[in-house]
Amino acid sequence: MKAIIPVAGVGTRLRPHTFSHPKVLLNVAGKPIIGHIMDKLIDAGIDEAIVIVGYLGDMVEDWLLKNYTIKFTFVSQTELLGLAHAIWMCKPYVIDNEPLFIILGDTIFDVDLQPVLQSPFSTLGVKEVDDPRRFGVAVTTDEGKILKLVEKPDTLVSNLAIVGLYFLQQSGSLFASIDHLISNNIKTKGEYQLTDALELMIEGGEPFTTFPVHGWYDCGKPETLLSTNEILLKDNISTKAYPGCIINDPVFIADNAILENSIIGPYTTIGEKAVINNVIIRNSIIGYNARVGHIMLDHSIVGNNAFITGSSQEINIGDYSEIRVG
Ligand code: UTP
Repeated sequence: MKAIIPVAGVGTRLRPHTFSHPKVLLNVAGKPIIGHIMDKLIDAGIDEAIVIVGYLGDMVEDWLLKNYTIKFTFVSQTELLGLAHAIWMCKPYVIDNEPLFIILGDTIFDVDLQPVLQSPFSTLGVKEVDDPRRFGVAVTTDEGKILKLVEKPDTLVSNLAIVGLYFLQQSGSLFASIDHLISNNIKTKGEYQLTDALELMIEGGEPFTTFPVHGWYDCGKPETLLSTNEILLKDNISTKAYPGCIINDPVFIADNAILENSIIGPYTTIGEKAVINNVIIRNSIIGYNARVGHIMLDHSIVGNNAFITGSSQEINIGDYSEIRVG
């Protein structure tokens, strides 16, 4: 089965990191976001991927071709006209009416895909959320059949958020719906939306169900990248000793990183060739070849090749003094 992975977006919410790297190549828990996704897809038996590239697309292509041997087709979306438009660009590479699995490039998931890929109906991954107003939601019957999809609902029509995993039984009807949106210039918030295309299919009577995605880890913003890093690291234990260092697991430390006189972790990823000394770092991601010294970092993201150093104080203060160094 083929997977379609749209990764053409600019990743504005993750600037400045996305100025030099596409979002999907940002490191979380020791590998790029798209690496986590590919590993899950390949485990589930996906043997071909159509990747929609755009912003810094060459870097994505290079990384995927260097790290995976499955068949890739790269489709270039030069104008970001929305997710439905991105999927529509894959039409020439999809065999008539074959089933498709679509996954957003910034969604790391933990779900058994085997039953999903064998579903007799089209089915959308959903997760129960407390505040559905930020999401597209699925309104379902008690038996789980989707009645309609609502984008960012103002009133509480459903708390089942659509999380970016889509299994389509018949690619033909999906492309027909998107054709309809594009030829009638039907956009929502200025873009051709996949939710609108799916809603058209549901209105046309195509049966859709949902499947639960309990493990859904968003990587779209700095705070969600860090919380995903935390969740994915949960069982990572460091086995190596570093001079003068205390390692508070869980952490990921690249084999060729150099650490000394520091307290690292918990929930910290240290990238390849990073050089770290005299620091306390927790809940953070430190990039490839970054140099970090004499500083305390919490909930921080340090980019590749970045250099950051603080200062150590030399003080001579008397009894009962009180100094708060900022
Ligand atoms: P997002 O809108 O969440 O990602 O799209 P983005 O545009 O990269 O990030 P921001 O909003 O600027 O911070 C979800 C997924 O769909 C892809 C994106 O690359 C991302 O993986 N996408 C979206 C496309 O490939 N093409 C589009 O036209 C829109």
